[in-house]
Parts: sequence; structure tokens; C-alpha cells
Amino acid sequence: MFKKTQLISTADLTRADVDFLVKEAESLRGKRTKDLQGKIAATLFFEPSTRTRLSFESAAHRLGASIISVADPKTSSLAKGESLEDTIRVVDKFADIIVMRHPEAGAAERAVKCTKKPFINAGDGANQHPTQALLDMLTIKREMGKIDGLVIGFTGDLKYGRTVHSLLYLLAHYKIRKIFLISPKELRLPRMYLDLLRKARIPFAETADLSKSIKEMDVLYMTRIQQERFKNEKEYRKYKGAYVLTAGLVRKGKKSLRVLHPLPRIDEIATEVDNLPQAAYFRQAENGMYMRMALLKNLSK
Ligand code: NCD
Repeated sequence: MFKKTQLISTADLTRADVDFLVKEAESLRGKRTKDLQGKIAATLFFEPSTRTRLSFESAAHRLGASIISVADPKTSSLAKGESLEDTIRVVDKFADIIVMRHPEAGAAERAVKCTKKPFINAGDGANQHPTQALLDMLTIKREMGKIDGLVIGFTGDLKYGRTVHSLLYLLAHYKIRKIFLISPKELRLPRMYLDLLRKARIPFAETADLSKSIKEMDVLYMTRIQQERFKNEKEYRKYKGAYVLTAGLVRKGKKSLRVLHPLPRIDEIATEVDNLPQAAYFRQAENGMYMRMALLKNLSK
């Protein structure tokens, strides 16, 4: 059973929640249902998105809901200077379920103070992206058959990467054998997440070398260096292209290695990797739709 009606952070989820939602998502795979018939879902995206918004909207349609949407922040009254709080108070009257993405960390927390309706954080700045973390768990479970006992590597922007931060909270509930944290020194994982791993007794190693650590991994989670999180273009250029996963590098790993990426990819995975069985990122994107069906269905019950 899943009792929550609002999802802000993966820090609020238990292992039982994750296991339940993964099962639910699998049971909804490829289905069309009437679970949300007559309901209206609002998707408010105040920061760019392709996958997250479209998979939420496809998920809502598949459950029989209708959708109202802000896909471009420039077209909403936030651009006129309206507060986030006022926007949410109004959308609360129009919709039965609210899904929101916002560029500021903590925005989801502020928004739920203004609505009691089912609410889903679809990403708030560098803070959290809980639905991505849940679809990542679904993907790992589906690709590897298990989560306990795995060796998992994270590569790229571990400082600002909200998908990494969110996923670590969920992995902390499992017996992960080891986590590799691979990033340029300046983009290392913030200390609070290292403390989380220590508390969960998950062994981890911080390194800048992907080609050595890849040999030990079961799952490699690649991330994009996120230009929009840097102060300026010059800062971003320092790290752009820091890691590029090639087919040769993938072949250094186990045959059973699976490569995940929340997408969008810029240049951190060479397109030659796409056709290898190890490349799980497009399957991962599809899984996102089923996980979002599971969430929309269970949060709005
Ligand atoms: C991620 C995000 O928005 O945080 N994308 C996504 O939702 N699939 C990762 C990213 O933008 O790099």
C-alpha cells in the first residue's frame, strides 16, 4: 500500500514504498486503464523538459485523465512576477493532481504549503527529482533482476545532479556492495550525500578514473554536465566533455554491465554505445512512463 498523496523528496520514501511502486509500474506496463477517469492533471514545467513532462502526460492519458499544462515558463504569469505560491493556490482550484518542475531548490516544498491536492515534484533545481529516482530503481530491478549486492558507479556532475542525489536516498535502503563516485574534483558529491552512504554502511570510493573502476561495476549511471547550473559559460566549459563513454570503454566492463542515463545526453555517451546490449537508457526512459502511471494512480487514490 502507498499512503502518501504528495511526493517531494526520495528522503521520504521507504524500501517498502519503492518495492511497491516498482511492482505497480510493472503491472501497468503497456496498459490503458480508467483509474483516473474524470480527473484533471496539471503539469507545470517552469524549467525545460522533454521526457519528464511528456511521459507524465502520456501516463495520465493512459490512466484516463485529462491534462492542463504549462510547458514554457515564459507563457505563465510567473513571468509577470506572480509568486509561485499564488500560482499554486490558483492551479489548486483547476486541477485534481499537480505535477511541477521548477529551477529553484526547495520550490516543491514551498508549493505543497499552498495545496492539499496530490502533488508530485518533477525536479526542483539541484535538489530533488524523485520520480526519476524511482524509474531508475525500476530500471535497475528490471535489467539486473535485483538491487541488493550490486556495484554501482555514478559519473559526471555529482555536485549539481539532482537525479544522483535522489537515487542515493533510495539505494541507501538496499545492501549495495559498493558505489563508485566518478567526477572532476570540483563536481564531487556534496558531503551530506557521503554522510548518507556512511550511515547506510554502503562502501564508496571517490575517483576521477572511469576506465579503471568500470571493470567492477554492474550498473554505470552516467550524467550530463549541466550547463544551466553553472554561473557562466566559462565555468561550464571547464568541465564539458570531462567524461565520454565509448564502446571501447564499455567493453572493458562486465558483459552484464548496464549503462543508465537520465537523459538528455550531450556528449558524455558516444552514440556508438546505443546499439550495445549494455545501453539501457532508452529502455529507462520508457520505464519512466510506467513509474509515473504508478505514481499518478496511487497518489490520487
Ligand atoms: C534530468 C533532470 O532534469 O534532472 N533529466 C530528466 O529529467 N530526465 C537530468 C538532466 O537534465 O541532466
